[in-house]
Amino acid sequence: MHSAKPTDVLLSARVSVRYGEKPPVLHDVEVSIRRGEVFGLIGQSGSGKSTLAMTILGLLDRKKSQVEGTIQFEGSNLLQLRERELRELRGCKIALVLQSPLSSLNPALKIRTQLKEAWRAHASGSASDCDAAIRAAMESVSLPASDEFLKKHPSQMSVGQAQRVLIAMATLHRPALLLADEATSALDVITQAEILTLFRQLNRTTGMSILYISHDLASVAGICDRIAILHQGTIVEVGPTGEVMANPRHEYTQKLMAAIPQIMRPIATATAASL
Ligand SMILES: Nc1ncnc2c1ncn2[C@@H]1O[C@H](COP(=O)(O)OP(=O)(O)O)[C@@H](O)[C@H]1O
Ligand SMILES: [Mg+2]
Repeated sequence: MHSAKPTDVLLSARVSVRYGEKPPVLHDVEVSIRRGEVFGLIGQSGSGKSTLAMTILGLLDRKKSQVEGTIQFEGSNLLQLRERELRELRGCKIALVLQSPLSSLNPALKIRTQLKEAWRAHASGSASDCDAAIRAAMESVSLPASDEFLKKHPSQMSVGQAQRVLIAMATLHRPALLLADEATSALDVITQAEILTLFRQLNRTTGMSILYISHDLASVAGICDRIAILHQGTIVEVGPTGEVMANPRHEYTQKLMAAIPQIMRPIATATAASL
């Protein structure tokens, strides 16, 4: 088990973002992610969640967007890094898992080929080092590391297996921070629960911090240590998950809580509080 002081800050952002001449999509959004925590960013569609993830990764089109502020991560301000430095960081220290595994994987390539490419992007060891890293990553997501499985194409596996492959790929280099942007939103409820549990396990065993982005408070509350509620580009509430859910202060958070069906409310709150 990893042990980090719970108050160690891994990433600390304060940003405003606008696209073109339109009003800002994020207004002075402050987010601070601690080492070893799962931090939930919750907000409805269009509230600016993906914009924040893309800003952290430096993936916004610089010609079409304006970003102001700072994003401190391991001693540097990510907003001042050059493209080459950002490329070294992405997929290595900060990784991303998106919603739809089948569109994030290349349908034409065996998964072994895709895992190898992801490994070679940030490592220069021998073929056996690469195989060992792939095997370890597959085991960490509870998938077989056999030749038979690694020869498969994405279409030859279930959507849950494909999402596990993507998570293995994202965590190959043991990133300090994993951004999961609606990573379970396209999955059926059983697969969703399994993948959420997997994220939690990876967080517990490796100490990797996770920024878990979702529109669905009820389904992700159970894995988040703290949550922030994003509403129209502003963080309206942030705190330990159990506290925010038991005692929502902002009107919008109260509405979100009220939207959780009665029957699920005690379950969502109890899971969050028991963490
Ligand atoms: N590349 C872009 N160009 C212009 N507007 C964008 C772009 N990406 C997102 N937006 C707008 O920014 C707002 C927030 O979008 P987004 O960050 O994708 O929200 P979320 O992920 O919470 O659904 C929306 O109004 C969206 O239309
Ligand atoms: Mg989004």
